[in-house]
Amino acid sequence: MCGIVGYIGNKKASLVVLEALKNVEYRGYDSAGIAVLNSSIQIIKDVGKLAEIEKKHNFSSLEGTIGMGHTRWATHGGVNSMNAHPHTDESGEICLVHNGIIENFQTLREKLQKAGCKFRSETDTELMAHLISLELKKAKDFKGAFLSALQKIEGSFSFVVMHKGEQKLYGARKSSPLIIGVGKNEMFFASDMPAVLSHTRDFVFLQENEAAEITKEGYEIYSLSGAKISRAPTHVDWTPQMAQKEGYAHFMIKEISEQQNSIRNVLATDVTSAAKLLKKSKYISIIACGTSYHAALLFKLRLANYGFRSDVVIGSEYSTPPGSLQAQVVDKNTVVVAISQSGETADTLSAVRFAKTKGARIIGITNVIGSSLSREADSCIYTGAGPEISVVATKSFTSQVAILYMLAAVCAGENINEIKEKIRDLSAVIEAVISKDKEINDISAELSKHEDFFFIGRGAAHPVAMEGALKLKEITYLHAEAYAAGELKHGPLSLLEEGIPVIVIAPQNAGNVFKIISSIKECNARGAFIVGISDSDAVLEECNLKFKMPDCPTLFEAIAYTIPLQLLAYHMAIKLDKDPDKPRNLAKSVTVE
Ligand code: F6R
Repeated sequence: MCGIVGYIGNKKASLVVLEALKNVEYRGYDSAGIAVLNSSIQIIKDVGKLAEIEKKHNFSSLEGTIGMGHTRWATHGGVNSMNAHPHTDESGEICLVHNGIIENFQTLREKLQKAGCKFRSETDTELMAHLISLELKKAKDFKGAFLSALQKIEGSFSFVVMHKGEQKLYGARKSSPLIIGVGKNEMFFASDMPAVLSHTRDFVFLQENEAAEITKEGYEIYSLSGAKISRAPTHVDWTPQMAQKEGYAHFMIKEISEQQNSIRNVLATDVTSAAKLLKKSKYISIIACGTSYHAALLFKLRLANYGFRSDVVIGSEYSTPPGSLQAQVVDKNTVVVAISQSGETADTLSAVRFAKTKGARIIGITNVIGSSLSREADSCIYTGAGPEISVVATKSFTSQVAILYMLAAVCAGENINEIKEKIRDLSAVIEAVISKDKEINDISAELSKHEDFFFIGRGAAHPVAMEGALKLKEITYLHAEAYAAGELKHGPLSLLEEGIPVIVIAPQNAGNVFKIISSIKECNARGAFIVGISDSDAVLEECNLKFKMPDCPTLFEAIAYTIPLQLLAYHMAIKLDKDPDKPRNLAKSVTVE
């Protein structure tokens, strides 16, 4: 939820940390700060996005080669500069940044206040600095104090901590990501690999309840009780350019444009062992949130097409009492397919952990190497879409769907080579759609005059409509709802007023064209403004604005039809002067429940 970074080496820490923070700003951007250790610990922190803070403060005035930084997505305490991280103890000698939530915050804060600690912020984070400081009075060294403080807190955390006088940084994680970047005479802590890809591609992934220390020369990992753990770095093939805009105005449009290539990466993915596991199950339970949930709905439809039954449950609803369906039906014969771009979504992970307690086996579908989901799953398939920096999911969604369709096809004993051939064709279709971007831009000019939107589709086009509506609301802050087209007449039609745009997603192979035409006529009769996205002339004739889709392999229509909707949301955000990469109130990786 927040982005955290630590650096130790020979370079100017403030600049290295600043650059790294910009690469993880998608994790949170209501305030930010950097601390650098020299003869004392110096901190600059303020409210706003990094670009705004940089205009007010000179980060490079912080001299030193050991530093840490944070970009915040507020949980405990309002958005103000006192609550921004880093936080220190009263002496200013212990300084830290934190991602997560300390659940026994209130009890600990009261205890610390009784012990004389004076709090300057409303955050849960600050108490950790005071707690370490108190522990330091009892412990034999700083590491011991850090570990015993960690043992006293409940909840989720990743921390980076510095202590005046030590040429080291300390880190720890529980239910919140933290990785070590291994460089030459320099080491990094970061929430995510894109933070430091321009410095290293060798990473050590800290696991649950692990702590670590880094010096210029190396790293040491230990359990929270202090036992040493040895782990070699993993080399990743993500390049620094992948995490840069490379001339595009925004990451979102870069990532949309990359899809003709990212979809081809799926061709190298082996889904056979996951398919074997899936075939053995008596019950398939699919878990995901947000955009990944829409991929899950498409997967369910595809499985059904091959005769496999499954359920899709939103991560946060999985074990919610009373009467959670899953609590009744998940058992050792269940295979859970958990889908998460980040692999760190707390709601999805907690559902996975719940299913595990019932004996279920887990297949994880994630885009992030070394993520919690990849480690906790029995079988993991990487989507291979490359780093996705924009907060809204685009290329990760289309790769998820392609992988899930491949998985379903392999389970059903379909010819994988034929499927792969269709993915190659799909790549050309995506390219063709993107080349007609100007047409979408023109449609967006008309639509950005409106404030409410309907998205409708039948069959697989319904989850696509849901994805289109989600993209639009996330980055334009306009109201959009998606409906199964046939459902309009059962209620939502009463909302239709003269001129309300209805975006119709209508591949002619998905369901009967005449039925979607009936839905369009129902809307037309109530004065709606119809925008058609279809390969069917009969459908498009009924529409006020039209986007003609190229021919597409039927199997992959859901993917192809998502592209114009991504472009539409992007262009509308630009027309409305909204930042598509950093929508208000959202963060890319939602590591709190
Ligand atoms: C939508 C979006 C979110 C995520 C959701 C799940 O554009 O980005 O709705 O899809 O938070 O995230 P992951 O897939 O990382 O579990």
